[in-house]
Amino acid sequence: MAISDASHIRLSWPGKQEPSTTPEVRLQPAQPGDARCELIAGDNLATLRALAGERAGQVTLAYLDPPFFTGKTHVRVLRRREGRGKILRSTAPAFDDHWESLPAYLQALRDRVAATRELLAEHGSLVLHVDPKTSHYAKIVCDEVFGSRCFASEIIWRYRRWPSKTKNFQRVHDVLLRFVKNPRVEPRFHQLYEPLAASTVATWGTQRQRAVVGAAGTRTHSSRTAAESPGAPLGDVWEIGIIGPVARERTGYPTQKPEALLERLIATCSGPDDLVLDPYAGSGTSLIVGARLQRRVLGIDSSPEALQVIRQRLARAGITPLERHAVEAEHEAAPERRAQAS
Ligand SMILES: C[S@@+](CC[C@H](N)C(=O)[O-])C[C@H]1O[C@@H](n2cnc3c(N)ncnc32)[C@H](O)[C@@H]1O
Repeated sequence: MAISDASHIRLSWPGKQEPSTTPEVRLQPAQPGDARCELIAGDNLATLRALAGERAGQVTLAYLDPPFFTGKTHVRVLRRREGRGKILRSTAPAFDDHWESLPAYLQALRDRVAATRELLAEHGSLVLHVDPKTSHYAKIVCDEVFGSRCFASEIIWRYRRWPSKTKNFQRVHDVLLRFVKNPRVEPRFHQLYEPLAASTVATWGTQRQRAVVGAAGTRTHSSRTAAESPGAPLGDVWEIGIIGPVARERTGYPTQKPEALLERLIATCSGPDDLVLDPYAGSGTSLIVGARLQRRVLGIDSSPEALQVIRQRLARAGITPLERHAVEAEHEAAPERRAQAS
């Protein structure tokens, strides 16, 4: 059987819906603030669909860091210094990661990827952050939603952490899948560089090389130029440390991602004034980093703990976000009913 496009390969699961339904919501103003930094409280699927009316085609980078199908309730850990040196530890529930089944998880992911895609600009891209337990399913889900020709990169975030006592290879990476909205349009992409390999420096030095191409179109050798090399174009394996126990950026919010990871992603896949969307905002890492890099940012989260952490983090950066909340349309009292009730 000849397969011309892998998007014809589909993932099926019991009860699969394309797309599933969710209550319709309206986005109500909650608090005025900086229009370059928006925060929406509510379920992200309903919110993304509500945003389609006002923001379709406007997002340059969407970063989605969903719960990882851990089967846990994640808690925020707070540490407070009491008196001389004594540290008091308390916890608060942050978000739930229990699922009826893997199909239920994949359905939730698919719906959100599809709703986010509607908001992307033609030059925009979506980055889905998952782990190796689900990344193979997630990639096919994205192939289905975008078409496999829109697949751009699989970034491996490699980190170091305390070794666990498992008789297996240590799990030390996450997977970030990048899909572009339109493969015929040049995506927003600012080339970053990493240091040259020691072997390259030893052989070729640090000057920029120019490949010499022979008659058959093959590279015969390189020749050194006078210009200093900016480094090697950034590859798709990123070694970035996890947040240290006493790092300034640590908020205690579970699954908080390092600012260095988001910095690299946002700097590469968006430009100043572009809109960066994060429907699973968590502790607000993408909002903080995006604002610092002069992007417009829009975060969504349903967890009151997450929203509180985001507000505190933004306040420390001198930013008051423009806040809205998602209200189920059928719970909205019609103006005449509201007038009668008062
Ligand atoms: C893995 S955390 C994101 C962490 C974030 N990237 C950071 O650096 O802090 C996932 C977040 O998604 C939120 N979330 C999960 N399901 C959601 C939903 N249906 N609607 C809105 N937010 C949701 C959770 O409350 C949680 O804060």
